[in-house]
Amino acid sequence: MDEVFTLAQIDRVAQSISSRISISPRIGMILGSGLGNLAEAVSKPTIIPYQEIPSWPVSTVIGHQGRLVIGQLEGQNVMVMQGRAHYYEGYSMAQVGLPVRVMQRLGVEILIVTNAAGAVNPDFIPGELMLITDHLNLIGMAGLSPLRGPNIDEIGLRFPDMSQAYDRELGAMCQQIARENSITLYQGVYVCLAGPSFESPADLRFLRASGADAVGMSTVPEVIVARHGGQRVLGISGISNKANLDGNTITSHVEVLEAGEKIVPKLETLIRGVLRRL
Ligand code: HPA
Repeated sequence: MDEVFTLAQIDRVAQSISSRISISPRIGMILGSGLGNLAEAVSKPTIIPYQEIPSWPVSTVIGHQGRLVIGQLEGQNVMVMQGRAHYYEGYSMAQVGLPVRVMQRLGVEILIVTNAAGAVNPDFIPGELMLITDHLNLIGMAGLSPLRGPNIDEIGLRFPDMSQAYDRELGAMCQQIARENSITLYQGVYVCLAGPSFESPADLRFLRASGADAVGMSTVPEVIVARHGGQRVLGISGISNKANLDGNTITSHVEVLEAGEKIVPKLETLIRGVLRRL
């Protein structure tokens, strides 16, 4: 059996964080590849490197700073993950989901989750953003779920509903803010693959045919944990590259990180706008 966590273990991790902060975070944020600089906007921050938190999965990928930043943004108490862990790094799905579990025990009600993603939709242009309206849990269909193992009944149901994984009200708010600021905000379906290899042209044709608009290697496990615990979720993908549908487009992590620089200012406008309205 993969490593799973009991409620007591999760609470010990939560306790190690709450003993270092004086505020109760209400909004959680996960910043994906190349998007971590958004955390620099947090005021009065308490910064905790992931290595200092027991059991916390440490990011091993370039572009993920690996720190928890807790403080205020637009008057809201926020807990921001500057970087995340992925299944392909060798973590169990329960470890990938642990930070969200800990957020739940610390009282976080809303999770804002971001990622860098490849465009599967041929109309999407790198450097722009996509509001995630639904996901395709391909990694889960292959048998990998962060909820595998004994259910934690105190947190949620054994069989949680995923019909509205992405909160419609938060999504509409985000669209409104994008319009007000002349920011292009596509909307669509995000598909999560295990990675770390990028997709082949045949993979991408399959994903496109199955209704995906953007592809990445994260987010869906965290969203499933969030919804299991009743949190509201806002998901935004930064489109970092064209997918290699034609077989002639080479995808690289460097490209993904460079696109992040274009994406962060727009993402910051959207997230600040949402926080002001909450
Ligand atoms: N594929 C998968 N994951 C990604 C991509 C991609 O093209 N871009 C950023 N993350």
